[in-house]
Amino acid sequence: MPIISEQVALVSKKKRPERDKHMLHEQLKIEEGVFDNRTMMRLEKFFSHGIISRLLFLISKGKEANVYVAESGEAIKEQLAAVKIFRIETSSFYARTDYMIGDPRFPKIRREISWIVNEWCKKEFGNLKIATSAKVHCPKPYYFSGNVIGMEFIGDGNNVAPQLKDVVLEDPKKVYKTIIADLKKLYDNELIHADISEYNILMHDGMPYIIDFGQGVINKHPNAMMFLQRDIYNITRYFNRKYRLEVDSEEVFGYVMGKEKNYKV
Ligand SMILES: Nc1ncnc2c1ncn2[C@@H]1O[C@H](COP(=O)(O)OP(=O)(O)O)[C@@H](O)[C@H]1O
Ligand SMILES: [Mg+2]
Repeated sequence: MPIISEQVALVSKKKRPERDKHMLHEQLKIEEGVFDNRTMMRLEKFFSHGIISRLLFLISKGKEANVYVAESGEAIKEQLAAVKIFRIETSSFYARTDYMIGDPRFPKIRREISWIVNEWCKKEFGNLKIATSAKVHCPKPYYFSGNVIGMEFIGDGNNVAPQLKDVVLEDPKKVYKTIIADLKKLYDNELIHADISEYNILMHDGMPYIIDFGQGVINKHPNAMMFLQRDIYNITRYFNRKYRLEVDSEEVFGYVMGKEKNYKV
């Protein structure tokens, strides 16, 4: 599904700075009314730090966050960036503290929605940093402020990469093994994703890219092992059902934790 016209996306980087200033002014006028004041002020930081020069299209309107494609600013090599904006007013975030309480990165939890949303956003950003340095296939994090994260756009030209659930894989075993290898890299770097599913994996250049790291916890979290087991169970069940693999998720769980040398696939 082409989401951006060629005309909009292809602008030479040289021409950007002068044009960016004008665009910023125009864009902020447009976005007024769509975003609350706090979000607007944070978006302005993205413009002034050269992360994005304008928001182009909404890719996804989720329960808690919207994701946009943006034209990137002069600080970013790639042409496009993805911008995830968490909604501050979403009260379902209170339930999210289950994925914070017990994570040593959150010694104190406040019962204030804007605080929880900002910390959640910071957590997704920090988790993406850990994953990127562990060489996991995932979007590179660029910048965050409050409830807004800027990251690498995963897609082909102007097309957003499809979710795993919407493609038919030519080599499902290879893709499954890549996902498990990435979960192991995360585990070896003390991170559990905790929301792995066919929705949170995008297929790009034949490779699976893991996204949506907000729920991720450090493996010292009291439920970390349960979350890891659930992640492996969910993705294994998906591949076993759709592609008739016969993988034993308990064996894979042992492998990821380093208790087994390998697993059968
Ligand atoms: N970095 C990205 N590049 C391209 N598309 C993205 C990116 N991040 C998110 N998306 C799109 O937005 C959707 C929702 O993003 P996600 O992080 O899973 O948020 P949610 O919390 O709403 O599930 C994804 O399924 C994908 O289509
Ligand atoms: Mg998601």
